[in-house]
Amino acid sequence: MLLSLFALVCEEDELTISELALQNFRCYEHVVLELPRGLNIFVGPNASGKTSLLEAVLVLATTKSPRTLHDYELVRWDNVWGRVSGQFRSGEGQAVRIAVTLKGSGEPVDGAAAAPSYLTGAKHLEVDGQTCDAAAQVVGRAPAVFFSPDGLQLVKGAPSRRRRFLNTAIAQITPRHLDDLRRYRRALAQRNALLKQVARGEADGATLAPWTSQLVEAGARISADRERFVGQLSTVAADLDGTLTGGRECLEMRYQGVVAGVSDEQEREAVLREQLDKQWSREVQLGATQVGPHRDEVAVSVNGRPLRQFGSQGQQRTAALAIKLAEAQVIGQRRGELPVLLLDDCLSELDPKRASWLLELLAGFDQVFVTSAVATEALQQSNWTAWYNLAEGAIDQERRGAAGNESQTKREDQRCQ
Ligand SMILES: Nc1ncnc2c1ncn2[C@@H]1O[C@H](COP(=O)(O)OP(=O)(O)O)[C@@H](O)[C@H]1O
Ligand SMILES: [Mg+2]
Repeated sequence: MLLSLFALVCEEDELTISELALQNFRCYEHVVLELPRGLNIFVGPNASGKTSLLEAVLVLATTKSPRTLHDYELVRWDNVWGRVSGQFRSGEGQAVRIAVTLKGSGEPVDGAAAAPSYLTGAKHLEVDGQTCDAAAQVVGRAPAVFFSPDGLQLVKGAPSRRRRFLNTAIAQITPRHLDDLRRYRRALAQRNALLKQVARGEADGATLAPWTSQLVEAGARISADRERFVGQLSTVAADLDGTLTGGRECLEMRYQGVVAGVSDEQEREAVLREQLDKQWSREVQLGATQVGPHRDEVAVSVNGRPLRQFGSQGQQRTAALAIKLAEAQVIGQRRGELPVLLLDDCLSELDPKRASWLLELLAGFDQVFVTSAVATEALQQSNWTAWYNLAEGAIDQERRGAAGNESQTKREDQRCQ
């Protein structure tokens, strides 16, 4: 059953990050890590810098942090700028280097290094040394999926949390998705501003027409992409959740929105337009667009009951993990290469049986990073390729060859204080 889940992807290309370099990123002043394929395990006490390493990989994959909306927080305190860069390789040997340079909150005084001249805004993106003007030029080059205990919010949190999840996941599969989202947000903001003006009698309803058209066009595509993705995700997540819960539970996910279930693209646009027309008086009254992808939701249920309201904490946690693992699988199926999987502090919450089941499942991925505060037995007995101990401002790396008997220890020179 587990193997069959991977059958669709494991024959395909493989993607790994072979080198990660951090400069003034979170607690790291400077560190360069060489990372093998397979299972990479990072063990260290609280605040030793584990999550920051995984976060850095996700910043390269998505240009954003899963932990904060404020990029300057990623830069080491009191520094003017910080940088993360990574070398990714695909199975055919093609390499791509992605670098993200960020502006910090520090001022360039008292000998602090001035920001490089190319950092004119808050963030600078590069692929193979070439500046990228838009996140869409970077996202999807080297996909990654991150899961931490906070991932519980995926099922427990507000609908906006699930929409954000869809945006990030689909952007890594469909390059034009970020562009659609940008166009949609712009049309939405313009339309909402005009609706308020119409309410005050300062504008005519006809002025909305061009923005409504843009909203409808981009909105129909976004909802179609989301519905397709959720359909694929639901099947895989149900299988994984079933295995995690010993087959006792039946997880279901369904995309909900005014155009859900309409398969033809033009028909979608027509339905969305029709629904907007219906809401016209309410829209003017409230000064905001009432229907569209910005209001859509993903319904998640277990055994027919909404998980958000009725699920136990344990059920929610298991479902969230199953959904994130399913996200990685669906990205893998759609792209022909599995994303780098980043699991932050997830094993401590599983009982030993599920923890070893999860570790077994991870063998199907090309490259996985797992963090833990404790070197549990399940971790020690797993088939890891590199083991990193984080302590006292240093990262010790031990590597194992394919046969599991060669090992080599390397001490990385870095500072985390
Ligand atoms: N911008 C920053 N500059 C310097 N240190 C930071 C910054 N952001 C977080 N930290 C610190 O980095 C340390 C490591 O954090 P983290 O990677 O979350 O550790 P872990 O996951 O091992 O618990 C923490 O002590 C945290 O306070
Ligand atoms: Mg952590």
